Amino acid sequence: MSLEHDLGSLAIDIAREAGELARTRRDAGVAIAATKSALADIVTEADREVEALIRTRLKAARPDDGFLGEETGAERGASDVTWVVDPIDGTVNYAYGIPTYAVSIAAVRGEPTPNEWDALAGVVYAPVSGEVFHAVRGEGAWLGVNRIAVNPEVGPAGALLATGFGYDPATRPGDLELIGRVMPEMARDLRRAGAASLDLSYVAAGRLDGYFERGLSPWDLAAGALLVTEAGGRFGRAEPDGGPRGPLVVAATPAIFDRLAEAAGLV
Ligand code: IPD
Repeated sequence: MSLEHDLGSLAIDIAREAGELARTRRDAGVAIAATKSALADIVTEADREVEALIRTRLKAARPDDGFLGEETGAERGASDVTWVVDPIDGTVNYAYGIPTYAVSIAAVRGEPTPNEWDALAGVVYAPVSGEVFHAVRGEGAWLGVNRIAVNPEVGPAGALLATGFGYDPATRPGDLELIGRVMPEMARDLRRAGAASLDLSYVAAGRLDGYFERGLSPWDLAAGALLVTEAGGRFGRAEPDGGPRGPLVVAATPAIFDRLAEAAGLV
């Protein structure tokens, strides 16, 4: 078995345990622990507890690896592997009782910065649906035990796309302008599910044709981007204007990637 395969298996086991903890805490009622970058950007007690569990499990299994988590930050390791973790992606859904949230865990090699790292394995686990999306570099992408692939083509009605919004209200006019450019150009419809890791997993599984969003953090996309590329899709991330809205991410089936990237301004 390859290192990538072993890392993927470990990530699945830990994501399952972490997801069950998140679901149990949700059923018991959720306390908002703090707001972060903006009033809308919340962290629950469960986010912290779930990240602590993931970190403890990873430390026990692979003590030399680095860690980059949404809630507890970065720690360099002695090995060249870093774990990039979002304990609960879709925290606002989680806090409102909307079941669309997921645990996202990826193992990357190199600088723990998107575009610089080399993703080795990733898992996105949605505890309410029980769906496990996972990918291993060079080996493919799966939903449970079934191989997944992006949609091979997009019909004449246009592409089913998804997007998301950052928490800073100052970025909203730009986000709406982006939708105004993309939708008339190519969309049959648009989804905003509220968890970037699942949006990317859905592109990988052919449930969406494409996805775009500005301002994602590394932990939102680390596992999902690998899922997309291992499922035969394309993923791009760039800072078109370097402004406060942050990097633009585009992921799609190759059938529409270039058109979507151009319409969204990923150049
Ligand atoms: C958020 C979700 C959301 C996306 C935001 C992310 P979080 O992650 O993925 O869909 O639109 O940009 O920050 O805060 O729930 O982990």
